[in-house]
Amino acid sequence: MRKRADVISNGYKVMLIDDEIGIVDSLSIVLTKAGYETVGFTDPHIAIETLAKDTYDILILDFLMNTIHGDEVVRQIREFNTDIYIIILTGHKDLAPPVETLKALDIQGYCEKNDRFDQLILLVESAVKSIAQRATIYRFKDGLNKILDAVPRIYNLKPIGNILEDILREIMAFTSSTDGFILIDDLINDNNDHKTLIRGFGRYLGGVEEFTSRLSPELMESIGQARMDKMVISLDNGIILPLLNEYHNIMGVIYIESNNYHERAKLLEIFASQASAALNNALLHSLINIKNEELLRTYDELKERYMDTIEVLRLAVDAKDVYTRGHSERVGYYARKIGECFNLDRADLEILNIAGVFHDIGKIGTTDDILLKTDKLDEKEYAEIKKHPLKGAHILSAVSMFKEVVPLVKYHHERIDGKGYPLGLKGEEIPFFARILSVADAFDAMTSDRLYRTKLGIQEARRQLIDGAGRQFDEEVVKAFVGIIDKSFDEMKNELEFSFLEILEQ
Ligand SMILES: [Fe+2]
Repeated sequence: MRKRADVISNGYKVMLIDDEIGIVDSLSIVLTKAGYETVGFTDPHIAIETLAKDTYDILILDFLMNTIHGDEVVRQIREFNTDIYIIILTGHKDLAPPVETLKALDIQGYCEKNDRFDQLILLVESAVKSIAQRATIYRFKDGLNKILDAVPRIYNLKPIGNILEDILREIMAFTSSTDGFILIDDLINDNNDHKTLIRGFGRYLGGVEEFTSRLSPELMESIGQARMDKMVISLDNGIILPLLNEYHNIMGVIYIESNNYHERAKLLEIFASQASAALNNALLHSLINIKNEELLRTYDELKERYMDTIEVLRLAVDAKDVYTRGHSERVGYYARKIGECFNLDRADLEILNIAGVFHDIGKIGTTDDILLKTDKLDEKEYAEIKKHPLKGAHILSAVSMFKEVVPLVKYHHERIDGKGYPLGLKGEEIPFFARILSVADAFDAMTSDRLYRTKLGIQEARRQLIDGAGRQFDEEVVKAFVGIIDKSFDEMKNELEFSFLEILEQ
């Protein structure tokens, strides 16, 4: 075992395994220079034992080693560690492990050995980004849940005074703070006058005049700075969040007085950007002279910002469980394929695709203990899982573009015989598109590995779909999908494989 840590560490620990000491040494030098703490092994067995006791962020290992192959090493590691990022080194491109192996062992990338290691450094850097993102997601899961609850509420609000108070109330509750204010300026009313609107709580409660007399010169200066730089300003006892409009111009600020917001600063920033979008929406609706075209453009942008947030949350759901990674995309893909059999138009196919991608977004509200449990769930835990379609529908209901996707997400676990959830709808009570989504979801679940069981073969999954037709699934939908499996499954597999490779190469 060789250890090098003589350069300032960036906090990430990398384990290197290669049976050639020369490779371990060169890798160690390159990575240590880049700020990583590296520990190298030439004996894979000792490396596995070490990894069982110690925490590492990234593992880089040789594919072809004398005593044991890299994929077997990873297989053993994955039995007790599903978190570590793994990069496989190959001597030559043709000797790279097959994609199936990479997928099955959740290996994030592979790279050819060469003298300069440029490609490897890039891969390690992208692994670090993912690790940091996942750490943030885990750390702030609670906060994200709160935001999720609050965002649809904010979007539904109308009068501007109320919206300001509600935004402030939500954000203050989030930091357990009692003093704070929200200030919006250059608000143009119907008479084309400019005015400033303020809402405050605690010691900032009151009208504009009283309000300004309560601000300390330092705080005023910091607010001015936040407005000028359009940046969040963190103070010892509070945080200033700028509110920006669709043109990235300052609309106002939120100030929260609190000593313990630091942990949640990033979330507060996300919240402020959502609040800006909601305010923008409300302001735009109150302006009568705005051009229609402009309104539409702004609305698109609002949707986009909300979409970004939802995308982060969706990734959070996938990040929770390596076994479901890629599941949502595949469900979207299968649902679309089924839709094509029923000659649906492009807009409907898009609805099916989006619904597939977001169908399990409600699982963000389900705890990891339940989501990652390998044993059978007890009644209470199962009841918790069964809430995810309604939670998902709630999250997506805030944006009108998801209007048609909402019922699909809500009813994707209903069954034709009425034994599904959340409502126990029967037969045609279940929207047709939700019946399509249900088959796509079940098929991908059956053909992928899960924590509690390994995957079924295509033919077995096909048989189970036919078996469930008329009871769990819609008969016509099953018929259509079985037709696709029989006719063009290989083609579909290639398309899916291709997109997987793209993900790997990112
Ligand atoms: Fe689901």
